[in-house]
Amino acid sequence: MVEARRPSGTHRIGVIAGDGIGPEVVEASSPLLAAAAAADGVLLEWIPFPWGCDHYHATGRMMPDDALDRLADTDAIFLGAVGRPDVPDHISVRDLILPIRRHFEQYVNLRPMSLLPGVRGALAGHPDFDMVCVREKSEGEYTGAGGRFDVGTSEERAEQTGIFTRRGIERVARYAFELARSRPRRLLASATKSNALQHAMVFWDEVVEEVAADYPEVTWRPYHVDALAARMVTHPQTLDVIVASNLFGDILTDLGAALTGSLGLAPGANLNPERLHPSMFEPIHGSAPDIAGRGIANPVGTIWAGALMLRHLGLQGAHDSVVRAIEAVLAAGAVRTPDLGGRATTLEMARAIGERLG
Ligand code: NAI
Ligand code: MG
Repeated sequence: MVEARRPSGTHRIGVIAGDGIGPEVVEASSPLLAAAAAADGVLLEWIPFPWGCDHYHATGRMMPDDALDRLADTDAIFLGAVGRPDVPDHISVRDLILPIRRHFEQYVNLRPMSLLPGVRGALAGHPDFDMVCVREKSEGEYTGAGGRFDVGTSEERAEQTGIFTRRGIERVARYAFELARSRPRRLLASATKSNALQHAMVFWDEVVEEVAADYPEVTWRPYHVDALAARMVTHPQTLDVIVASNLFGDILTDLGAALTGSLGLAPGANLNPERLHPSMFEPIHGSAPDIAGRGIANPVGTIWAGALMLRHLGLQGAHDSVVRAIEAVLAAGAVRTPDLGGRATTLEMARAIGERLG
């Protein structure tokens, strides 16, 4: 759970606006986030780090050698998006985002997925839902363990080894149970696949069950991930907190974002819950080269990610005020970016949200 830290003074925010629509959504969002924090008595000091694909073309690296040291000196990191067609994606993501997540032990990836007022979701009948996925982000299926063997022969094979540790499962499960306990419905679904993955997912189930013993007030159950994906579509209103491994959470949260009506609405937080290191807040979408430079990107996912950052910094009031302003503008419906069927620009939409703060 995101424990509140007492608001005071100034918070230093490292800003990596990145590429494509990243700078557009970050610039549109920053003033209103600063205004919301100021209303809570806190100054946000933005520290821009101009890293990304331009930096890569100039230096051969996505960010400088001392980047992690410089980021370590911030209270939080606010990221737009990185990636551009002229730089291979495995370089832009592997050289910038992954080192930050790994170095700062941001092992919880928190992704709210709820239907916002006035927005038509993707589901027939438009059922209301409010889910949040707690995705394990430091191990599991994405550790890179394995390799290619007997390459070029008829016996060629690839092995991709998932690595699950008791410490890794326990800490993410505990975070998810704490979060479930703090929400009105107190429900938790654990994504598993122990019928087919008899080592890793049987272990996952055992550790989740052990952690559950400390949370008798939370109603929880495991779901096989395929059935859970179907349930997100057929009965999303029955789901609350979902805890999932790295791969399962990756897939389920793209599904969840699609259900909410636009990828441009969805926020993400990469958290170091122990607060030993800065956490990072970003929209879940990428740099959207197809619409970059036109000023029409939806800024809501970024603004909402900024609200999660304010809450992480202890500014619950500022968080609530930003989320209410987003909801008010979407419910009124007059100002919408093209992905939501409107004609507003990024700046117009962000300004409309800023005007509703308070
Ligand atoms: P994408 O999320 O950038 O775009 C997918 C589709 O959604 C596009 O049609 C785009 O126009 C639309 N879209 C995305 N954000 C939007 C917004 N705020 N408002 C309106 N429409 C929006 O994913 P794609 O195209 O797969 O990747 C583009 C680049 O972004 C690649 O280089 C990829 O590696 C990178 N990427 C970076 C991420 C990050 O920085 N965390 C995450 C995902 C992708
Ligand atoms: Mg993904």
